Amino acid sequence: MAGAVAAVTEHAPAAPGALAAYADLVAGCTRCPLHATRTQVVFGSGSPNADLMFVGEAPGFHEDKQGVPFVGAAGQLLGKLLAGIGLSRDDVFVANVLKCRPPGNRDPQPDEIEACESHLFRQIELIEPRVIATLGNFATKLLSGKPLGITRVHGQEQEVTLGGSRVTLYPLFHPAAALYTPRMLDVLEADFRRLPELLAREPVAPAPRPPLYAAPDPAAAPAEPEPVQLGLF
Ligand code: URA
Repeated sequence: MAGAVAAVTEHAPAAPGALAAYADLVAGCTRCPLHATRTQVVFGSGSPNADLMFVGEAPGFHEDKQGVPFVGAAGQLLGKLLAGIGLSRDDVFVANVLKCRPPGNRDPQPDEIEACESHLFRQIELIEPRVIATLGNFATKLLSGKPLGITRVHGQEQEVTLGGSRVTLYPLFHPAAALYTPRMLDVLEADFRRLPELLAREPVAPAPRPPLYAAPDPAAAPAEPEPVQLGLF
């Protein structure tokens, strides 16, 4: 690990070994039909204590064979972008919305996302990252809970609660898309360069809950007189 963000890339583990134990459980998942065509579950890889997590779409051909996310051309680009901010794959955690490869690399289907999403939410709960960078539309829409596409929201961080913790959600273009569109690559690089700043921010405290009942303060200014309802006269 090198560079200015080194000091904030890891925190104390929530429960040592809990993520690995969960990976063992998910390895046998049969919640959706993709289990029948996968070579193996691609759970995710990297530091279980990462402050920065990336969430992509789904494993492709090489990921399915190797059991590791982002090992193809898009993964090479992700590694280069990380190196540009002084980080390596070992400093972060990389996962996908779907843990199993859709045949022919087709888009994830709504029923597959629904069946798989609790695996991702449990990963977030166990890792407790401070920043989650969503790569592309599927991860962005799932974790923001909004239908806005990546072209509209890339580079715009928002504070959300995920896995029971406050997290900075940071949508980015998917590296696979940027590989073939030079202008998109420029934008992805520029958005990526803001990650150290987001990681260095103070963790956001949860918003205080308003009291269920607040007694009226007698010292407060007297209430406005009731407006006369002219229509009554
Ligand atoms: N490889 C992955 O693991 N996920 C993607 O979204 C793309 C390539």
